[in-house]
Parts: sequence; structure tokens; C-alpha cells
Amino acid sequence: MSEQKNSTAISNKAATSLQNDLLLRAAKGEQVERPPVWVMRQAGRILPQYRAVRERLSGFIELVTTPELAAEVTLQPVDILGVDAAIIFSDILVVPEAMGLPYEMIEKRGPYFPNTIQTVEDLDKLPTQIDVADRLSYVFEAIALTKKALAGRVPLIGFAGAPFTIFAYMVEGKGSKTFDKAKKMLYTQPDLAHALLEKITQTTITYLRLQVEAGADLLQVFDSWAGLLSLEQYRIFSLPYLQKICQAIPQVPKTIFAKGAVAARQDIAHLDCQVVGLDWTMPIAESRALAGEKTLQGNLDPCALYASFAEVEKMTRQMLIEFGRQKHIANLGHGVYPDTEWEKVKCFIDTVKGF
Ligand code: CP3
Repeated sequence: MSEQKNSTAISNKAATSLQNDLLLRAAKGEQVERPPVWVMRQAGRILPQYRAVRERLSGFIELVTTPELAAEVTLQPVDILGVDAAIIFSDILVVPEAMGLPYEMIEKRGPYFPNTIQTVEDLDKLPTQIDVADRLSYVFEAIALTKKALAGRVPLIGFAGAPFTIFAYMVEGKGSKTFDKAKKMLYTQPDLAHALLEKITQTTITYLRLQVEAGADLLQVFDSWAGLLSLEQYRIFSLPYLQKICQAIPQVPKTIFAKGAVAARQDIAHLDCQVVGLDWTMPIAESRALAGEKTLQGNLDPCALYASFAEVEKMTRQMLIEFGRQKHIANLGHGVYPDTEWEKVKCFIDTVKGF
């Protein structure tokens, strides 16, 4: 009896302990043999195996909402590219969907929301109580399935959009170069903007906590449209909500990736996060000085992967040297573009692994 108990305890431990924990050690600022590497949008159209799964389906949303398939494509880059982390296959837009604003993903054009938030009445129409565990159960199931299939090979990253970026979609209703409808609300109805941001923040906190419970080892928050705000506005409409999220989930390391937030790097480094994501416009040495003791993630230009293999290798090495060996998680400065040759992505990854 006691022997049996013992072996159960060991197998449980084996299932939860990681064979490759470079990502988590680097995130916490611990010593690593080499920087860990993964790629934003690593699961996606760059991989023929992803396109094969996608072709059999009615669309992107079917893939996101079918846990077995989401888990399958999450694992593809681990198997094919050899990355040091998996990121759960989903989308930041599942949060507005759970809040009562469904989205469509229009082929080659991107997301579209038939209903948007323009007035207090629109906000009041959203359900007050959101059962996140139920509405987003497909994500938590996908995480649990992925963790099981990974069997500790690499950590699993969970994620959500930053409240400001989700707000931008819920007001604008679609992608935009300027997000002027969303920004207009900041100037004309700031109280409504804050009420919506608060609602998004609370939903996101519940969502991320449940991702951790399901098995996510690290969380990344994507503030993809941070670059649209002045520093002053970023301090009012984004940073306080990011801080609430960071403080609400102390259990795992957190990465804040605010694309285009060149002026806000120091403020972001002061949040209760462990990792600051950089895009390719953010100079490495300068960012290091601004970020203090925090680990940095990034930041090769995704377009650099259109260059020759020799050039990719050279640019990747140069980036690694500039970051130094410690407190760095190698990545691109934004998601990989779908027409990138996957072999070039592999070249980027292999160069980091050989560093
Ligand atoms: O591998 C990974 O990084 C995990 C998967 C992931 C997706 N979206 C899958 C996806 C992640 C982390 C996201 C986050 C996301 N989604 C962001 C933040 C990151 C960023 O890029 O700034 C944003 C802004 C979105 C919203 C979104 N989803 C847009 C604008 C689009 C259309 C653009 C496009 O590439 O077509 C999507 C669709 C989407 N999300 C795809 C994938 C793989 C492509 C859809 C397809 O396969 O047909």
C-alpha cells in the first residue's frame, strides 16, 4: 500500500516537473546556459502542418474552440521548430466574445465585431455576471490537453490581450491603422472608457487565473496597440489596468509586451511583471538601462526573416550579443508573418540554441 502511494507521488511529480525550464528560469532572472527561444505566432500559417489542419475546418474560430485541435496546433512548433516553450493556440478576442461581443474572423482581412461599444447603454447591455470558466472552457480544456501531451518537455505560455488593446477592438469593431473611434472615446467619454477597461480587466484576471489553474506556466499580456497612445494617455488608460492584472496573479511569471510603447518602457518595467517584451524599434542597450533588473524578451524584426539564411544567422547572433547571455528570452519583435519560410524561423531558433 505504502509502496503504491509512493509510486503515485513520483509519477505525479514527473508529470508536473519540466525537463526544459529555461524559459521560467530566464523569466525569474536566474542563471541559464543559453537564452530560451520561442516565436510569437509560432503556431500558425508558417507551418504546412497548421495549414493542413486549418483546411479541414470551417474557419479560425472552429480551430480556437475545439480543444483537441487547438492542442494539436499548439504542439506543432515544439515538434517541428524545437522551441523552448509552447504558447496555447487561441486569440486575444475570445475575451470580448465571453463578455458578450462576438467576433468573426474574416479571411485575409482580420477580426470583425458586428456589435461594438459606443455608449453607456451599449456597455449596460453586456451581461453583468460573466461565467468565465464556462464561456471559455474550451481554452482551459485545450491547456489541460496540451500540458498532458507536452509531458513536461517545455513550459506552456498562457496569454490575454491587455485591457487597452481589447477595449480598442470592442469600440472600433475591427482592425484599424489609427483606431480613431476607440481613441475618440478616451477624449470624449473617459468615464465610459474607464468603466469598459475595468470590466475587461476583471474578466481578464479571472481568465488568466483559470489558465494558470489549467496548467499555464507563464502568462504573456499583449498590448498590441500600445503604440497608439501618448505616454500621458498610456499612464491613464493602460498601465493601471496592467498593474491590476500583474498584482492579481502572483503565482507565475508574467511578460508584458506593449508593441510600440517606446516611451513607456521604464513605466512597464516598474509593473509587477518579470519580463518586458521589446519590439524591434526599441534599442536593446537603452531598453536594458531602462528596465533595470527585469528580463527582456525580443526583438528581431519579423521582416529580417525574409533575408538569406546567412543573414538571419548573423542578425540573430548580433541580437544575442547585444542582449547578453542572461535575463533574455529570444523572440521576434512581433508575431512572425504568415508568408515567412518556416525554415528561416528554424534558422533563427537554431542560432539561439547554438549560442
Ligand atoms: O502562436 C501564437 O502566438 C499563439 C496564437 C495567437 C494567435 N493570436 C493566433 C492567430 C496569439 C498569441 C494571438 C494574439 C493576438 N490576436 C493578438 C496579439 C498579438 C499581436 O499580433 O499583436 C492580436 C492583435 C490578435 C487579433 C487577431 N487575430 C488579428 C488582428 C488576426 C488577423 C491577422 C492575421 O494574421 O490574419 C487574428 C487571427 C489569428 N490569430 C491567426 C492566428 C494564427 C490567423 C488566422 C488564421 O489562421 O487564419
